[in-house]
Amino acid sequence: MSERITKNMARNIYFGGSLFAILLFAGLTMDTVQKIPKLTNSDKITESVARGKNLWEVNNCVGCHTIMGEGAYYAPELANVFDRRGLKNEEFFKSYMIGWMAAQPLSEPGRRKMPQFNLSEEEVNNISDFLIWTSRIDDNEWPPNIEG
Ligand code: HEC
Repeated sequence: MSERITKNMARNIYFGGSLFAILLFAGLTMDTVQKIPKLTNSDKITESVARGKNLWEVNNCVGCHTIMGEGAYYAPELANVFDRRGLKNEEFFKSYMIGWMAAQPLSEPGRRKMPQFNLSEEEVNNISDFLIWTSRIDDNEWPPNIEG
């Protein structure tokens, strides 16, 4: 038997390899798509969560903050602010958020400033619900540091 790879063998490797890669890609894509509802808790998106996300967008919080690593690096990551400042307690977190949003901008010199958004209590609660929901997305424990 000759050691050479024949044209036929090369063709089989080419098509076989391509087919294998395409099937693997399709399989992994289907696997991801199936897992998304479970990972994101999409069945737990209440109206308040949706309003909170809208407020998050129209006020451009992401212009300074990251959420699950996406956004600007001026201010702390907020996908885990519920764990960090709310200690995973919803009532406690909501009162923390009311206090925090009302107190801005802090007048401590040398500290980065956050603007005053003049949001109503209900709007702040919506944002809190959005941040609580976000903190429960399975993001592989991102960020690795609780201080974000
Ligand atoms: C102009 C930049 C800027 C924008 C826009 C902004 N923030 Fe901030 N935010 C900051 C800075 C800076 C801090 C940290 C301030 C400090 O520690 O004194 C902060 C801190 C916070 C904290 C406390 C985080 C912690 O770990 O204690 C929360 C909650 C927060 N922001 C929510 C929001 C929300 C909600 C919005 C949108 C409505 C928003 N921020 C928009 C700059 C911004």
